Amino acid sequence: MVRFVTPLLLASLSVSAFAAQKCNSSSQCKEEKYPCCSQYGECGTGAYCLGGCDPLASFSLDSCAPMPVCESKTYTWENLDNAVTQDKYLGNASAADWTYSGKVKTEDGNLIMTMPAKSVGTLFANNHYVWYGKISGKFKSSRGKGVVTAFILLSDVKDEIDYEWVGADLTTVQTNYYWQGVLDWHNSGNITVDGEDTFNDWHTYEIDWTPEKVDWIVDGSVQRTLKKDDTYNETSKQYEFPQTPARLQMSLWPAGQASNAQGTIDWAGGEIDWNSEDIQDPGYYYATVGEVSVKCYDAPSDAKKTGDKAYIYANSAAMESDISITDNSTVLASLGATGLDMDLGADKSSSSSSSASNSIPTGSGGSGGMSGDNTSSDSGSGTSTTDGSETSTSGFTQGSPTQDSGAAGQNERVLRGSLFGVLVALVVLVTL
Ligand SMILES: *[C@@H]1O[C@H](CO)[C@@H](O)[C@H](O)[C@H]1NC(C)=O
Ligand SMILES: *[C@@H]1O[C@H](CO)[C@@H](O)[C@H](O)[C@H]1NC(C)=O
Ligand SMILES: *[C@@H]1O[C@H](CO)[C@@H](O)[C@H](O)[C@H]1NC(C)=O
Ligand SMILES: *[C@@H]1O[C@H](CO)[C@@H](O)[C@H](O)[C@H]1NC(C)=O
Ligand SMILES: *[C@@H]1O[C@H](CO)[C@@H](O)[C@H](O)[C@H]1NC(C)=O
Ligand SMILES: *[C@@H]1O[C@H](CO)[C@@H](O)[C@H](O)[C@H]1NC(C)=O
Repeated sequence: MVRFVTPLLLASLSVSAFAAQKCNSSSQCKEEKYPCCSQYGECGTGAYCLGGCDPLASFSLDSCAPMPVCESKTYTWENLDNAVTQDKYLGNASAADWTYSGKVKTEDGNLIMTMPAKSVGTLFANNHYVWYGKISGKFKSSRGKGVVTAFILLSDVKDEIDYEWVGADLTTVQTNYYWQGVLDWHNSGNITVDGEDTFNDWHTYEIDWTPEKVDWIVDGSVQRTLKKDDTYNETSKQYEFPQTPARLQMSLWPAGQASNAQGTIDWAGGEIDWNSEDIQDPGYYYATVGEVSVKCYDAPSDAKKTGDKAYIYANSAAMESDISITDNSTVLASLGATGLDMDLGADKSSSSSSSASNSIPTGSGGSGGMSGDNTSSDSGSGTSTTDGSETSTSGFTQGSPTQDSGAAGQNERVLRGSLFGVLVALVVLVTL
């Protein structure tokens, strides 16, 4: 059983949960009590301070918990023993390699990420950060207009390297990258995938990320290269190149749901059909994941290194040289703890049952500029396949960072700009 915060703390958590403060890098979390800005742009404690916690949008640079260092590993899918829902993860990546939301299952040694009708899909996020390395995944994408499968590296300050499959075009995989979430409409690139289509055929997709370049590799052949040198901005004198520790994330999401911004729907090939052949049989959209592996590379030669357990941001410029490797613990004692007080709630177990709503991020309510994305609690509830706990997940949305068609208005650009990465909402019913 998960250990939760004391009843007193819980009471205060649930009070504030009704008005979770919003946050972004120009408007940080203001209260030391709820210092962590989650991936979804809301302030809180616990899971808000773990994977995805944005140090630049949090109360202070050390509000987010230190990030577990890279671990070279190959993942296969006989079972989901190494994956937990977000309410069960406190930062010990050795105990759980993945956290996830949505309905997933294993079948014939593969991981099936599903998206039943009107649901918000699946997000499977690795808990170990990668600070340069090669990630490989064997995938069969989902299919259907409006349905998007993604295999990406995403850092907490929104450096990002992507593969995305849009279900309306099964001969292409789209690639993209971002630096600190800054939009640039020229960064995307398509790769044509050989064979019948990406839904029926297995292909191996790799991202080879070094301090000097990114290679996108399909079936062993380099299809796109991004050189760091080519990302230099003469004005800011900075390399706008993904360069901070990032987590591997795999997802299936409804980019084409009617409530999304029109630009997102268009990019996804149109509105999603919730009565398609896959929805009728087997009853959901799905993407199939075979073996996934992570090979860690050495940290940059000039990296500040005082340990080997955690990455931390030592400076708010959040560039490569601002990352340190230390021996800091990455584990919170409870869902009430934060990077500022990681031991909070340590020796006190609580037997009360409650929802710890300000300690497990919820993305509903348009966080992170997602006002066009109104996917609220009626969608995507389900029971996790790994255990008996009731976990209803909702509000999972992910951005559509695509090249500009030129037609989108400024507002939409801003909106779409804040849609990068993955937005997830989890409403977790904690039953002890
Ligand atoms: C950041 O958050 C503030 C306060 O919620 C909001 O007014 C502002 O528009 C946001 N900025 C961006 C870039 O999203
Ligand atoms: C890392 O550990 C050091 C020494 O214990 C501590 O002073 C520092 O605040 C910790 N840093 C973070 C980001 O937790
Ligand atoms: C993390 O989990 C591992 C494996 O379950 C365990 O051996 C280790 O003690 C845990 N570390 C912490 C700090 O809880
Ligand atoms: C990539 O392919 C999609 C169609 O699948 C198309 O709409 C888009 O314009 C292409 N992007 C680039 C950069 O060529
Ligand atoms: C270069 O940096 C300047 C200053 O930060 C910024 O305004 C501009 O948009 C950047 N240029 C590109 C191509 O990203
Ligand atoms: C979500 O949509 C409903 C109906 O379309 C609307 O009443 C509600 O205000 C929206 N909520 C948000 C947070 O946008």
